Amino acid sequence: MDICIVGAGYVGLTTAALLAELGHSIHCIDKDISKIKLLNEGKSPIHEPGLEELLRKNQQNGRLIFSDDREACFLNAPILLIAVGTPSKPNGDTKLTALKSVFEQISRNISSHKLIIIKSTVPPSTNEWLHQYLIKSGVDATLFDIVSNPEFLREGSAVYDSFHPDKIVIGSSSASAIETVKKIYEKLNAPYIETSLTGAELMKYASNAFLATKISFINEFSRICDQYGVDINEISTSIGMDPRIGPHFLQSGLGYGGSCFPKDLDALGYAARKRRTKTDILRAVKKVNEDQVDYYINKLDKEIHGLRGKQITVWGLTFKPNTDDVRESQSVKLCEKLLHRGCSIVTYDPKVQTSRLPIEFAPDMYQAAKYSHALIVATDWQQFKSADWLKVKKAMIGNTILDGRNCLDRAEVTAAGLHYVGVGRS
Ligand code: UDX
Repeated sequence: MDICIVGAGYVGLTTAALLAELGHSIHCIDKDISKIKLLNEGKSPIHEPGLEELLRKNQQNGRLIFSDDREACFLNAPILLIAVGTPSKPNGDTKLTALKSVFEQISRNISSHKLIIIKSTVPPSTNEWLHQYLIKSGVDATLFDIVSNPEFLREGSAVYDSFHPDKIVIGSSSASAIETVKKIYEKLNAPYIETSLTGAELMKYASNAFLATKISFINEFSRICDQYGVDINEISTSIGMDPRIGPHFLQSGLGYGGSCFPKDLDALGYAARKRRTKTDILRAVKKVNEDQVDYYINKLDKEIHGLRGKQITVWGLTFKPNTDDVRESQSVKLCEKLLHRGCSIVTYDPKVQTSRLPIEFAPDMYQAAKYSHALIVATDWQQFKSADWLKVKKAMIGNTILDGRNCLDRAEVTAAGLHYVGVGRS
């Protein structure tokens, strides 16, 4: 099938690679010319394992092309898949400028039937609104169908996730549109969930809000464990064995970050407020996540008898391992607060070498530990979990290791003569 993908961001590119690999003919467009230039040189503008290779392979076999020519693409392709960004406003509302501009252009150019698939994460009822927008712009209702088809990709494993989805959500009021979307994905082995446009939008938010809730639950519980001398990791393992709970998203630590959870929780809260609906759980999830960084900092403060004037090493700046993304990173928030409390910070991150913060970057993880009073593992990269702790001990002035992801082997750390501190693991 001929598909035009609008938006060569994280979701657009991964979907382009997937659909081309499934045998479709993909034209991916983006208004950012520098991005298109890079893609046409065979380079991916984002770091995602396996993505660049897959994009290049399908460019070479002719199934995938990139350009900035929106209009030509809109005129020719019968299927438009929209994956433009939907960032949030300070009040939690979602900026739909990019989406509206795409629809404005569709309304001006449409002359044959278009199936419009929305991948971008949007607040409930946005797709219904877009449908009405086209009708009000004078477009005949028989000329288009809208389908809401949200993605559930994790950064760092987006390519794998797109080939192995646990479900494919298809929201639409048109049975024929739903059938076409099923055909697009027919080579994937996943159950379909058919729903309304708004149902699909809410499934996406429910998924992210529930996962964030699991994390904040376990993080709050880790503070209780702190008081009773019980290891939170044992609790996670135990409750995770109950199939009604499941083992995932129970890793306690500094809390969640990234481009999805914080934004989607805010958007959902805003959407609920707009309809005068209280969301106590959502607010609590957010509050626990915000407080978590302070909880770690206060714990460190006590352990090393004051923070002012101390040099702290922070390993990992990204919001999770295997990515170069620092958006809404709890580690960056931690650094900000430590600076505010009078610390100096030396950091090492396998993928990040610059920051807007006044912090020093070391060329490797051991040099980052040099002359520090304490070291914080803020992102659970594998190389931090398997660190040579004797080497760390020799480099540091102090001996406190704060495990910000409860991911270290306490025995290995203490065997090197270091003082291990976790939350919910004391
Ligand atoms: C998430 C969803 O998983 C994905 O389905 C959705 O489409 C986009 O948002 P992503 O943002 O890539 O994906 O990251 P994810 O792996 O879900 O982790 C989110 C945050 O939660 C990270 O900061 C991570 O460190 C934290 N986390 C995750 C925990 O603190 N504990 C856990 O047990 C799991």
